[in-house]
Amino acid sequence: MADSRQDYLALVDEVTEHDRRYYVDATPTISDLEYDRMAKRLRELEAAHPDWVVEWSPTRRVGHEPISDFPKVERPVAMLSLDNTYGEEDLREFHERVLRGLDGESVVYSIEPKIDGFGIELTYKQGVLALGATRGDGRIGEDVTPNVKCVHGVALRLREPVDIVVRGEIYISKAEFAAINAERVKLGEEPFKNPRNTAAGTIKQMDPREVAKRPMRTILYEVVDGQRYAKGHLASLDYIRRLGLPVSANNSSAADWDTLIGCVHQWQDKRDDLPYEVDGLVIKVDDFAQRQGLGTTSKFPRWAIAYKFPARQVTTILRDLEPNVGRTGAVTPVAVLDPVDVSGTTVSRASVHNYDQVQRLGLGRGDRVLIEKAGEIIPQILGVTEKGPGPAFETPTACPSCGSPLEREEGRVALACPNRLGCPAQQLAAIEFFASRGQMNIDGLGEKVVAQLVSQGLVHDVADIFTLTWEQLDSLERFAEQSAKNLIAAIDKARQAATFSRLLAALGIPHVGGVAAKAIAQRYRRLTALRAAAGAKEHEAFVEELSEIEGIGEIIAIAVDRFLRDPHAAAILDKLGALGIDPEEQVVAIAEGPLTGKTLVVTGTLTQARADIQKRIEQAGGKVAGSVSKKTSYLVAGADTGKTKLEAAQKHGVTVIDEAELEKLLTSS
Ligand code: IVH
Repeated sequence: MADSRQDYLALVDEVTEHDRRYYVDATPTISDLEYDRMAKRLRELEAAHPDWVVEWSPTRRVGHEPISDFPKVERPVAMLSLDNTYGEEDLREFHERVLRGLDGESVVYSIEPKIDGFGIELTYKQGVLALGATRGDGRIGEDVTPNVKCVHGVALRLREPVDIVVRGEIYISKAEFAAINAERVKLGEEPFKNPRNTAAGTIKQMDPREVAKRPMRTILYEVVDGQRYAKGHLASLDYIRRLGLPVSANNSSAADWDTLIGCVHQWQDKRDDLPYEVDGLVIKVDDFAQRQGLGTTSKFPRWAIAYKFPARQVTTILRDLEPNVGRTGAVTPVAVLDPVDVSGTTVSRASVHNYDQVQRLGLGRGDRVLIEKAGEIIPQILGVTEKGPGPAFETPTACPSCGSPLEREEGRVALACPNRLGCPAQQLAAIEFFASRGQMNIDGLGEKVVAQLVSQGLVHDVADIFTLTWEQLDSLERFAEQSAKNLIAAIDKARQAATFSRLLAALGIPHVGGVAAKAIAQRYRRLTALRAAAGAKEHEAFVEELSEIEGIGEIIAIAVDRFLRDPHAAAILDKLGALGIDPEEQVVAIAEGPLTGKTLVVTGTLTQARADIQKRIEQAGGKVAGSVSKKTSYLVAGADTGKTKLEAAQKHGVTVIDEAELEKLLTSS
């Protein structure tokens, strides 16, 4: 273990360098595990020697105290915005204006993706990040330094001790954005509209801890007073890249009109390949002296222009709204559209998040609607542009699959069919879920095969999966002998590997994930014992018995009780029993350690796999629970932690910690 300040500073540099390789160069040179070890050692050193800590230490990225306001900062060089062009004609005019302004000099342009995020300015003093400021009105911005420090790729210290001001964009990638929204929808929250607003809203958050949970990144595209560092713009970007700042790898240059327009055309197809949203290109005169000569108008520089890509928002006719029934009974509307091409793909269905949204948008049959498709995100209906002749869509009152009256769960926006396994749509989804990866892991039993087995009457519920024979499968259309054999083998393997907790989780009882299933399985050991316990008690007494289990709150207890008493579920469980599927759960001996007697809830995205973290907590004597209650000692909140969990923690006075703090707990003695 290093024990001199010199060693500590070297370690700060080493971790910083690996952060840079990961977030700036996208070419990590060590494994996540090695990185975690190094970062852990750094945290330990800082805990042992608080007076050693330097402000550019990578550990300073995790947001700490909430901020009361963002001080205003006045900047000497205004952050201008860009004039927009939408077509080749406009771009040609820009080019000709530039040539006229340059009096016959030749020009070289840089061509850069226009990242659709949130503009930011970073000021480094002696190589250390001193200020992160928003654009504001251009001249006066807001000091959001604590939040900016949480953004991946924002170097806290540069490779050289220079004074420099750089500008760029903070963004959330398309994949991260989709993940954030999927989580929000799951929690019954309104999804965010687009990555840009989400990034902007996050940077203006008063609580840096919340900022740290959102996976934001940055790309820098301007050096203020660039001529101090290089002759031209692209060379100045190369310079800041060498200083350790992230610069787009997709910038190029053009020295004549044909090259410029050729490059613009190429980008029309390439834009979807980028991991973040781009709404166009920025075309800039490269030479700083020429920029100076061209000057600016009151609003825009004359040496740069934004070329906006054709909109991905198109209109089409809304023909119908089909209710879709999900696995847990949530009924959500899916729009059926006249097929329309949106930037290269044909769209004929779009999602509307819930029926409240249908009412809010006032959707009716035959309306012309504006839809948007951005990257991999499912097309969304943004609004009605022209009312059609048809009536407004009504919110369904009965389940489209089984006819049961729909219910609205308290505090949730989604409507739900309460018929659970009595509902064919939920049955089908339940079988798919049971077989899926992360549940019973039955290879070869995906959506299509399940649908085929159900429609052929071979499978009605999850228990039937275990009665399948290869002769039955072999006789199915499009089912080769080998795939039939493989599937039978996969089912057999799943049966062998089944534990009670895995089986319980795979049954898809609402609110019962892996952690809750494990807690219940530890208490009852077998499915038959759990059912016997439920049968021996009145419903209220059994809910109470379940709630006494560490990590099982009332909501889970009620859901389990309800499931066990559901006649359809009971019939399935009877069948499983008759097939001899009643695996015994191994009891985990409770270890002694720093977390003995503590219950932790782990949520959000963490750097280590959830299962590994759980194991380490258990090895340290702690228990892991699935939901926050007054029995919880700590909520370990990773990136994109849902509001529900944080609110529950606040309500019960539970301490919220991040992964680094968990690490400290695990290693304390
Ligand atoms: S240069 C005077 N380069 O687009 C030069 N801006 O509409 C100003 N943006 O406020 C900016 N990608 O937030 C520049 N490669 C890029 C950009 C970019 C995105 C944003 C930026 C700016 C806005 C202008």
